[in-house]
Amino acid sequence: MQLTSRFRFSAAHRLDAVELTPVQNRELYGKCNNPHGHGHDYVLDVTVEGPPDVSGLVARRAALDTLVREAVIQKLDHRFLNKDVAEFASAVPTTENLATVIRDYLKAAWTLPAKLVRVTIAETDRNTFVWEAGK
Ligand code: NI
Repeated sequence: MQLTSRFRFSAAHRLDAVELTPVQNRELYGKCNNPHGHGHDYVLDVTVEGPPDVSGLVARRAALDTLVREAVIQKLDHRFLNKDVAEFASAVPTTENLATVIRDYLKAAWTLPAKLVRVTIAETDRNTFVWEAGK
């Protein structure tokens, strides 16, 4: 059985790779390379999996909510990812890399009996990125 819980947070970023020239960055990232950054309203879906327990629940939703809020949302919401989040001092804050950081935050904090199997993050309503366990 799987349960997916949805969370939302807002954050700003600028896509700019230190190893590239300004012209190359502009070509690669387009308007996402604009100097002063821009924001997104991210939608984060966290999926857990396991057999329902004796109470019929795959996970205690309050426990999952608290874990995700403390491990992820409090660290990212209303932040400028490039400057405020240590992981992006050395990695471009693409949504691919953001999904990886969120997965690592969750794994480090994970205390639930159900397994973390998927992290899905939508940057816009046109672009969604997925990490899945075992892939
Ligand atoms: Ni962007």
